[in-house]
Amino acid sequence: MKHEKVIVLDFGGQYNQLIARRVRECNVYCEIYSYKKDIEQIKAMNPKGIILTGGPNSCYEEGAPTCDKSLFELGVPVLGICYGAQLMMHVLGGKVEKAPVREYGKTEVIVDKTDSLLFRGISPKTICWMSHFDYVSTIAAEFEITAHTADCPVAAAENASAGLYAVQYHPEVLHSVEGSKMLSNFLYNVCGCTGDWRMDSFVENSIKAIREKVGDGKVLCALSGGVDSSVAAVMLSKAVGNQLTCVFVDHGLLRKNEGDEVEAVFGEAGEYDLNFIRVNAQERFYERLAGVEEPEAKRKIIGEEFIRVFEEEAKKIGAVDFLVQGTIYPDIVESGVGGESVVIKSHHNVGGLPSVVSFKEIIEPLRDLFKDEVRRAGLELGIPGHLVFRQPFPGPGLGVRIVGEVTEEKVKIVQDADAIYREEIVKAGLSGEIGQYFAALTNMKSVGCMGDERTYDYAVALRAVTTVDFMTAEAARVPWEVLEKVMNRIVNEVEHVNRVLYDVTSKPPGTIEFE
Ligand code: XMP
Repeated sequence: MKHEKVIVLDFGGQYNQLIARRVRECNVYCEIYSYKKDIEQIKAMNPKGIILTGGPNSCYEEGAPTCDKSLFELGVPVLGICYGAQLMMHVLGGKVEKAPVREYGKTEVIVDKTDSLLFRGISPKTICWMSHFDYVSTIAAEFEITAHTADCPVAAAENASAGLYAVQYHPEVLHSVEGSKMLSNFLYNVCGCTGDWRMDSFVENSIKAIREKVGDGKVLCALSGGVDSSVAAVMLSKAVGNQLTCVFVDHGLLRKNEGDEVEAVFGEAGEYDLNFIRVNAQERFYERLAGVEEPEAKRKIIGEEFIRVFEEEAKKIGAVDFLVQGTIYPDIVESGVGGESVVIKSHHNVGGLPSVVSFKEIIEPLRDLFKDEVRRAGLELGIPGHLVFRQPFPGPGLGVRIVGEVTEEKVKIVQDADAIYREEIVKAGLSGEIGQYFAALTNMKSVGCMGDERTYDYAVALRAVTTVDFMTAEAARVPWEVLEKVMNRIVNEVEHVNRVLYDVTSKPPGTIEFE
């Protein structure tokens, strides 16, 4: 099915994905492209609207990212945000200069044109997020100023008859109190969108499309139990039933009881129509990890061994027609295909599989979705909430939460400590506020006393971070009483732990995981 589409042109701003997510939250489908995208290709996509993102440059400087004037003459409404707004003015003949005062943070914006389509239903004074050092000193011809702030004469401007809108602030960030409403106004009042991007119809249409594509072919899926692969697997199962085989490799580095939980949902006792193969490869992984301390070496071993185990299973199954991958939209944008901001993470997930399995085609049913959309699709598919709202968990699992050598004994310690920690965080009602939290095992042993006895045992570190995008993070302020309770339970209930530390490091300079 063809959706109405809005295009987000990325000028390198940090909020590019956020803009796209906000647009989709308004039930309008959108895609991110580099600002260099060919204008003919943009035209061919027949967009309902175009949004220009922010960016770190000054548009009047030589070599700064720019766009052609013809972009504004397509007859397609354009909303320029921050750099995008300045660029619109600059390209259309206005003037952009260095501002006498840099505006940063929550700022009161005074709406001058309260009947603007963009400001329908918006308060005459509204708090918006500003972050700019340049400003529009002269607007382009045929534009009018529609909002200002104490320091910024042009907080918003428009040429309504041409469908061109410019805002200096960032409507996409939550600090802009009525920002979502303004985006929605642009999409519905200016672009005339109808809001046809909905998860229920996406799921239904995807299932139909997969069924047609697969026919009576065989499909193979590497299931980790994580959100993406679970949602992909269930979608495939609903489409083609037991033509699908899911291979779940238990590498012995999962959280406590996790292997059994995944099996309970997807295995024979579960409700899905698919072939489920659990490979208990714990011993193999422990053997290969014995004596290895260096973090990258550990990651590499786990990744390689995973592929090897999977390959052996795939060989038993024989040739398949399709291989399922749980790629999601941020993976595509971050690999540089979509937007402008290139962030490449070399995380081990299932990326190496295509080379070891013989198949005709890859199916990526989630490649258009953001993470929150994947979760919504999961709920539509009836997947249990505890799977859909799982925290991120690294592919190499507890292997990167045990500092130094991984042994079966250490895995057990960190599993038990982690289970206690997670249980108490949930009990305290904090799980929704914390982006990611887990226990890690430091490689440190220290002296303690238990009863009258001297102990010499491990220290467990508790980690909890708040984060928007997992690229940066801050240590969460978990209440002291909760930490104290967790500490008490861990030292009492988990053998070989006599010390509990709380990690207050932010990222950067730390990372979220320990290795
Ligand atoms: P770091 O430790 O780099 O982690 O601050 C950032 C986020 O990425 C997750 N992470 C991984 N996810 N495979 C994954 O799928 C990996 O190898 C991996 N390593 C780290 C981490 O849990 C955090 O959410």
